[in-house]
Amino acid sequence: MTETEIKKGLAGVVVDYTAVSKVNPDTNSLLYRGYPVQDLAAAKSFEEVALLLWTGELPTAGELAEFVKAERAGRALAPNVKAAIDLLPTNCHPMDVGRTAVSVIGANHALAEESSPAAELSKAKELFAAFPAVVAYDQRRRRGLEVVEPREDLDYSQNFLWMTFGEEAAPEVVDAFRVSMVLYAEHSFNASTFTARVITSTLSDLHSAVTGAIGALKGPLHGGANEAVMHTFHEIGIDKNESREDAAARAKTWMEEALAAKKKVMGFGHRVYKHGDSRVPTMKAALDKMIEHYGRGEMLGLYDGLEAAMDEAKAIKPNLDYPAGPTYHLMGFDTEMFTPIFIAARITGWTAHIMEQRASNALIRPLSAYNGPEQRAL
Ligand code: SDX
Repeated sequence: MTETEIKKGLAGVVVDYTAVSKVNPDTNSLLYRGYPVQDLAAAKSFEEVALLLWTGELPTAGELAEFVKAERAGRALAPNVKAAIDLLPTNCHPMDVGRTAVSVIGANHALAEESSPAAELSKAKELFAAFPAVVAYDQRRRRGLEVVEPREDLDYSQNFLWMTFGEEAAPEVVDAFRVSMVLYAEHSFNASTFTARVITSTLSDLHSAVTGAIGALKGPLHGGANEAVMHTFHEIGIDKNESREDAAARAKTWMEEALAAKKKVMGFGHRVYKHGDSRVPTMKAALDKMIEHYGRGEMLGLYDGLEAAMDEAKAIKPNLDYPAGPTYHLMGFDTEMFTPIFIAARITGWTAHIMEQRASNALIRPLSAYNGPEQRAL
């Protein structure tokens, strides 16, 4: 085996077909079951996008009404899920809480070991409905706040924000949140989705596959980047009274120093997109609306300053996590809750891929080239 045949990180390796989404770096585009993601973000609810990813088609009005009714009725956490979360220290990483909650939700499910398409879809829908409450419950317990129970008169995004903050969010905030969920929902064979497919390929269960995917998503080279972006903003320093220009200048200096120190700056770069992440313009537009809504021009300065300096130095473009992090910060989410929000969105993509893998399975088991000691006697 020659060095050239090793594809470290599986970079550029096509391992299977998928009909769930198409990431096209040449046209800088992303299609969910054939629909451009920016069109879905502009016109569809996250509930509609979830059904599209799972079934391959946008729902009829009747199908959507039936799903929404069941989703709204399934939002409350079971007592043992809350009890399991309460056993975890409030200073552990919330991704560990997410991983644990999914495992308990799975253990509770009557069809946990069933793998028929109907059973898988039922488990996917239950996780979709329940996970926002995991995020909200965890943020509130860390802040010493009372639990806010879900409301069935609110849509998915309105209710997510209601349970987290205990008040009804402004329509423009709800819409920016909805856009982020649609954009975060699915992205072909990214590390966490591929992890879910590997676990599914052994014929293990859906909740094991999602739990493994959460472990992969936690890493700052992947989903953990949206949290890391906010750590960068805080390291530079956020001053609400600072002008956009002054904030940009400080951010530029920070980036120049970071790159001079050979640092990897989270929120920039992508394994597949090499000329910019197709989702960034849509998410940046949502961030711009939040900056205007909250009157936080200095955040735009920090954003612009970092982006310009990275572009100037290495021509590396932002990925989705870069505008998403500051958006969640402005909404009031704690920084370490950003990647659990990513879980809530990506549950749709992960479970769509789990169902696709199961429908046309082959055990995923690549080869390795041995470079250890030659055979030797004891
Ligand atoms: C997500 O796969 C998906 O689709 C993921 C995702 C999804 O929706 O599921 O899109 C979500 O995970 C987005 C990515 C979030 N991660 C980050 O923001 C972490 C920072 N980014 C980098 O670590 C990096 O860009 C990767 C890991 C995302 C991709 O890197 P590659 O393709 O493995 O390339 P590389 O790391 O080898 O970088 C190539 C060059 C290197 O320079 P040299 O050492 O060759 O001189 O570019 C440089 C890198 O140093 N580089 C960076 C950089 N990203 C690449 N330098 C500084 N900061 C960065 N962010």
